[in-house]
Amino acid sequence: MKKIEAVKFEDDKIILINQTKLPLNEEYIVTDDYERIALAIERLEVRGAPAIGVTAAYALALSIKNQNENVEEKFLKAYERLKITRPTAVNLFFGLDAIKNEFEKYKNDSQLYLKLIDAAKRLHEEDIDMCEKIALNGLSIFNRKMRVLTHCNTGALATGGSGTALNVIRHAFFSGFIKHVHVDETRPLLQGSRLTAWELDKLCIPFSINTDSTAAVLMKEKKVDLVITGADRIAVNGDTANKIGTYNLAVLARHHNIPFYIAAPSSTIDGNCPNGDEIKIELRSKDELVKIGECRFTSDAYDAYCPAFDVTPAELITGIITERGVFRKPYKFENV
Ligand code: MRU
Repeated sequence: MKKIEAVKFEDDKIILINQTKLPLNEEYIVTDDYERIALAIERLEVRGAPAIGVTAAYALALSIKNQNENVEEKFLKAYERLKITRPTAVNLFFGLDAIKNEFEKYKNDSQLYLKLIDAAKRLHEEDIDMCEKIALNGLSIFNRKMRVLTHCNTGALATGGSGTALNVIRHAFFSGFIKHVHVDETRPLLQGSRLTAWELDKLCIPFSINTDSTAAVLMKEKKVDLVITGADRIAVNGDTANKIGTYNLAVLARHHNIPFYIAAPSSTIDGNCPNGDEIKIELRSKDELVKIGECRFTSDAYDAYCPAFDVTPAELITGIITERGVFRKPYKFENV
């Protein structure tokens, strides 16, 4: 099977698989223009917190490619532009700040561009490494063959490596611990039914798609043993922002006495954010709610509320799987 790579850097250009076209079309965006990359992040052509962080890091480095004049001014302009692409995933800011620090260190160096690209590549490598460690640490939560429910997409498409929650599922499957994966379709942009399904299909892992609102019935019918999702930002107290609908799942899991886990790299933990109330939640365009693709199915005149994420309180989370181990309540991430 061809390895899925959401983000690649080749011949001084970034290559992104256009995730808005999947699974029906496999199209790539090949560019060295940071503005095009900023648009790709805003349009969710590249998405998922770790993938956004890695992509933004390359984009910022590329902003000074072949620039000889007013380099600092151009760099800072690109930094500000990329910073406003999406507000919730802390990995975006983590990636941009890593490149900005490198810029400050080497701004008078004739090899500045190469230094920045090297820093972005290191970040990418670290992400690949973290994905593998998260998956290995995640194996400890399985003690038998289980039916797992997941939300949104947290696989190779969402990271620089092989994924977070979906990579835990992948490793668990190949270790004999997964019977079936229930895939929440993930309204409104269908990251579950389009992207997670595409990845599971390629991996030959048994799965079925369900509407988000079917999760309660699946749990009541005792078809779910475990829930695992990813995260866009984790506060110091463990409150976790993730794709809209995750909070619903955590409440349902508590009601049905089902373990609810988050899997994420430590770059998703925001040491400056004490609790979930401080997490900025992205509001998306109403168009995403009233249309599927180009097909409008309700009146444009209706008002709509479209937060892209919600916050699951720490008390509903059984454990947070990171590359440093599985954290449990009370969450204390000071040293992460
Ligand atoms: O809006 P998206 O598709 O970028 O949202 C993605 C999620 O919510 C993921 O669960 C999260 O970023 C973790 S990806 C490893």
